[in-house]
Amino acid sequence: MERVLSGIRSTGQLHLGNYFGAVKNFIELQNTHECYFFVANLHALTTHPDPKQLAKSVKTVLAEYIACGIDPNKATLFVQSDVPEISELYTLLNSMAYKGELEKCTSFKEKIKKHHENINAGLLTYPVLMAADILIHRAHKVPVGKDQEQHLEMTRNFAVRFNHRYGVDFFPEPQAFDFSGKLVKVPGLDGSGKMGKSEGAGNAIFLSDDDETIRDKVKAAKTNSGPTEPNSIKSIEIENLFTLMKLVSTPDVVKFYDDKYNDCTIRYGDLKKQLGEDIIKFVQPIREKIVDFENNDALLAEIAQHGAEKARKSAKATLDGVREIMGLTSIWQ
Ligand code: ADP
Ligand code: TRP
Repeated sequence: MERVLSGIRSTGQLHLGNYFGAVKNFIELQNTHECYFFVANLHALTTHPDPKQLAKSVKTVLAEYIACGIDPNKATLFVQSDVPEISELYTLLNSMAYKGELEKCTSFKEKIKKHHENINAGLLTYPVLMAADILIHRAHKVPVGKDQEQHLEMTRNFAVRFNHRYGVDFFPEPQAFDFSGKLVKVPGLDGSGKMGKSEGAGNAIFLSDDDETIRDKVKAAKTNSGPTEPNSIKSIEIENLFTLMKLVSTPDVVKFYDDKYNDCTIRYGDLKKQLGEDIIKFVQPIREKIVDFENNDALLAEIAQHGAEKARKSAKATLDGVREIMGLTSIWQ
């Protein structure tokens, strides 16, 4: 059976981008594949989060995974720091990664622009830790959004380099995956690019947002003065609203507003009202479940413990192989 692995950082609450870029695929894959899904709390350390806040955020992401429909009886659900084998593989893989390629990585370049006061080694080697997450379970498929494509390419490079360096066929080459065949990028509401956990107020719709918050956020989304010529090209802000609509509304609703845009009779206020209500319809049942799970510490602890045990078993098998291949186990034999 093919193995699947993916993770989300514990840097806040999950939003529609996380759902449609990643979690939606997790839910389908758990029925047909051996799946490992985790909360990436080690990855969150690069921005020096408050320890209490970080621990809280781990619970939130775990509760939100389950509320979205990830079934801990089908998929292995765990917290990254509960599986120390990942950190050891990260150490071992660091010698497969070159400074030049790490410095060229787009996410590193973006992060150092944003956090120029905190350019730590964890940021630079972020793709190596991510490769360790994936390779520790020798995963084949990695369901992620479009922004992770380059990290997957780097993971494949490290895997191939390892196999080649030691003359083995040990690591498979993991592929980024989305059921649609195309990796997804969900836009934010501020017209500035992707929806993200920390892109500023109003950019993201969180799965835990209440109805009024959702209405307000959608209402405040950027638009323009409207098309003046039939069938004109949509501006980025308007295209973004249609992209969101395609995710949560029915095809006939999307067509209705598209036709109205094309014959210049569209009223963005109406479109936003419709979009807001359709997002609410989608988010509401998930939000109710989040509330149930978030406050159930005992259940979350049990799920994380059980998940860590299963993940460590698979991780240990890989790590034993890697240690053997690299000449780290035969020293005293
Ligand atoms: P964020 O970027 O909000 O901090 P993460 O970096 O933890 O979230 O991302 C977790 C997963 O969600 C990754 O697979 C990532 O590709 C996906 N993801 C995040 N934002 C988006 C988005 N706007 N569109 C599509 N996928 C996204
Ligand atoms: N780097 C991913 C992000 O920022 C999160 C992540 C960490 C991940 N390790 C992973 C995703 C392994 C897939 C597989 O979104």
